Amino acid sequence: MQPEDGGSTDFIIVGSGIAGLYTAIRLAEHGRVTVLSKQDLIAGNTWFAQGGIAAAFSAEDSPELHLEDTWRAGVYFGDREAISVLVEEAPDRIRDLLGLGVRFDHRDGSIDLGQEGAHSRKRILHIGGDATGRELVEALLFQARNRGVTFIEDAFVEQLIVEDGSCRGVCFFTARRRCLLQARVVILATGGCGQVYKWTTNSPAVTGDGLAQAYWAGAVLRDLEFYQFHPTVFFPAHGSPFLISEAVRGEGARLVNGAGERFMDRYHPRGELGPRDIVSRAILAEKARTGQEVFLDLRHLGAGFIPERFPTIYSRCREWGIDITRDLIPVSPAAHYLIGGITVDLEGRTAVENLFAVGEAASTGVHGANRLASNSLLEGLVFGHRVAAAAAAADGSGRPLKQPVDWVRLKEPGPPDEQGCLAVRPLLQELMWENVGLIRTRDGLLAARDRLKRWLPLLEYRFSGATLIETQNMLLTAMMMTEAALCRQESKGCHYREDYPGEDPELGGKHFIFRREAGGEAGSGGMPCPAAT
Ligand code: SIN
Repeated sequence: MQPEDGGSTDFIIVGSGIAGLYTAIRLAEHGRVTVLSKQDLIAGNTWFAQGGIAAAFSAEDSPELHLEDTWRAGVYFGDREAISVLVEEAPDRIRDLLGLGVRFDHRDGSIDLGQEGAHSRKRILHIGGDATGRELVEALLFQARNRGVTFIEDAFVEQLIVEDGSCRGVCFFTARRRCLLQARVVILATGGCGQVYKWTTNSPAVTGDGLAQAYWAGAVLRDLEFYQFHPTVFFPAHGSPFLISEAVRGEGARLVNGAGERFMDRYHPRGELGPRDIVSRAILAEKARTGQEVFLDLRHLGAGFIPERFPTIYSRCREWGIDITRDLIPVSPAAHYLIGGITVDLEGRTAVENLFAVGEAASTGVHGANRLASNSLLEGLVFGHRVAAAAAAADGSGRPLKQPVDWVRLKEPGPPDEQGCLAVRPLLQELMWENVGLIRTRDGLLAARDRLKRWLPLLEYRFSGATLIETQNMLLTAMMMTEAALCRQESKGCHYREDYPGEDPELGGKHFIFRREAGGEAGSGGMPCPAAT
């Protein structure tokens, strides 16, 4: 079925987290902006962000120190130029937020700066204690609406429309219609892919859609073997895992084993504030060594301080019967953040003309092989600003679109395929958790690849429901992550291979990339094939 004509706009932004909203605000003065969100506007990850935004904002700090911390946390694999942009433009972007009415928490008359792992200074700005994401989204939505940005909710992007190498719009559907919306520029701000894992801090909406769409459109993806696990996540008996912010450890919370002993000093000189991958693996090792749970202990921070500084964590834990002023919180790592993504330049351009990417969906190179805490909201802001400037200057094409649309998925589904596709989702999540998780081995990765390969034919069908297409997107993303993890025969940052525990100097500056045109097209009988650059 051909989509109906949905008209045109100047800029389409897919996704309504911090990166999408901030880009929309900046673009609003340059033309008509339409933001498409596949669920409601607050369904993405930003809403749940607790810790805050990192920026060198105190007299004791500087962009240079922030750069060194980011570079070191990324195990010297990041792009120094991109990191310079991130840290140097950070204070200006924070001032922009202040100008947009965002009210960061204050202590003793000045902005209260929190501490998080692997930061050498206190530099985390936060709002509402641990409600930074929620407060930011509300403020940015208000500003975007005031500037006339159009929002379309429950709009699932099925495919990017590319003609003669240039992105010309998107085909999306809602419950009532399927349409083709043309634009000068399309910007993917779709976040990462936490839902490829069984246990994740991510919102259920985060299924790798932008990554898959970019792949089919001909963009380059890279560094997909680097996936960050957050060390301190609470797993309630029922429902989704709940993040216990790193800011809690920044305020002095301790990790203790079942015997009540602190153990992090045995794993890293910075103890509880070591890099996330090291803290995560230490928790697993301690659990295995003792056969007991690992806990976060905040009790010494005081019954007055805790609910005021961490109101969200306090009240959510109360719902599960844990009073964090008196009780320990059992914690374990869960999937949290995709380090790699759609390769972009410093203005967010992908390899496809007039297609941009920003935020977690994009790979700017700032995170290297592991992300420094609270640099993610910052990346959305800093690069959102740059993407807006570049997108405003992009020409687009005035030509009418060719019809009919060329679909990348050719086969119409039969009922068994739909059922088969739906059944794959939980199996894939389990497979990725077990075999492409925090600790990887060649055998585990090969087993994952074999299993994923069997599901490959599903990618050839044109399904019409969001859940089915999400599952296809998760499958494609999972395949690329697995292939990249197999190729990187070393351990670096958050990619840990038990069979290759050290770094390989030969792989020093090498990235594994995926590009559809480069051969090995997914779904045509083969796995997507990485190339080294
Ligand atoms: C946290 O609050 O611990 C998460 C923040 C982040 O991932 O940077």
